[in-house]
Amino acid sequence: MHKVKTAVFPVAGLGTRFLPATKAAPKEMLPVVDKPLIQYAVEEAYAAGIRHMVFVTGRNKRAIEDHFDTAYELETELAQSGKQALLDLVRSVQPDDMLCSYVRQPRALGLGHAVLCAEHLTESAPFAVLLADDLMLGPPGGQPVLAQMVEQFERLGNSVIAVQEVPLDHVRRYGIVAGTPNGERLLKVSQIVEKPAPEKAPSRMAVAGRYVLTPAVFEQIRCQPRGAGGEIQLTDGIAGLLASEAVHAYQYAGRRYDCGSKEGFLEATVDIALSHPEVGLRFRDYLKMLKL
Ligand code: UTP
Repeated sequence: MHKVKTAVFPVAGLGTRFLPATKAAPKEMLPVVDKPLIQYAVEEAYAAGIRHMVFVTGRNKRAIEDHFDTAYELETELAQSGKQALLDLVRSVQPDDMLCSYVRQPRALGLGHAVLCAEHLTESAPFAVLLADDLMLGPPGGQPVLAQMVEQFERLGNSVIAVQEVPLDHVRRYGIVAGTPNGERLLKVSQIVEKPAPEKAPSRMAVAGRYVLTPAVFEQIRCQPRGAGGEIQLTDGIAGLLASEAVHAYQYAGRRYDCGSKEGFLEATVDIALSHPEVGLRFRDYLKMLKL
């Protein structure tokens, strides 16, 4: 059984829901309290044992490369002024055993197309996909979400996609799966469709932005016609896989914040600020003071 060694981060989207903030800066660099969204996702992959991070980037995404690189001037400045704690914090963004690769998606043709751009960097082995705008927090004291999924993948030996139940009027925002229960928190997927209308949705089980996939998915993505919204959809590639391989949907333990939307981003900011060691207590007092 192959270990999951590579994580793919598609970060080439346009982020139109966050304009004007995303006019010149990547959505994935928006900070939730003091850490950019992409760093939460990279830390989640690292915690799952993955050491090769592949970023599928586009125009205006330079800041992501700089964030995971050495910052010579800053580090020299901090070292010379004896600010060791800050220096350690800056250096911890890129642990020594972590390798980062970058590949461009020349046009934003969809998530499936973005994943395909990373094919040559995945060594024909199973890989994870993390959408950084879905900020996932594992249960308090428990495993982060991707680590839970890698564990399931290593047990089952086939692709695992993260799902959560959503209200019926939200199904048109997500990929939706249907399947049969196959163990605790697991469904064996029989159908997966992208952004269905509520009356056509096969269930209310929505795909969240975490996947562990077998390399066979690349061939499937390649042979899909353009799907919902005229984009090359990852969901359609996974639907193609179902004919030849089992795919499991995993109801993760933890919480997802849709930080691609303003509401989800604000919810994440408030929750993470409340549990932040430096500002949490004062922020709680501030919120209590508000006359809402
Ligand atoms: P979204 O659907 O959130 O699109 O993509 P978006 O462009 O980032 O944001 P909005 O909807 O315009 O506000 C889901 C994920 O897939 C990536 C995005 O970067 C995001 O992480 N993506 C999407 C690509 O990398 N390439 C694409 O062609 C499309």
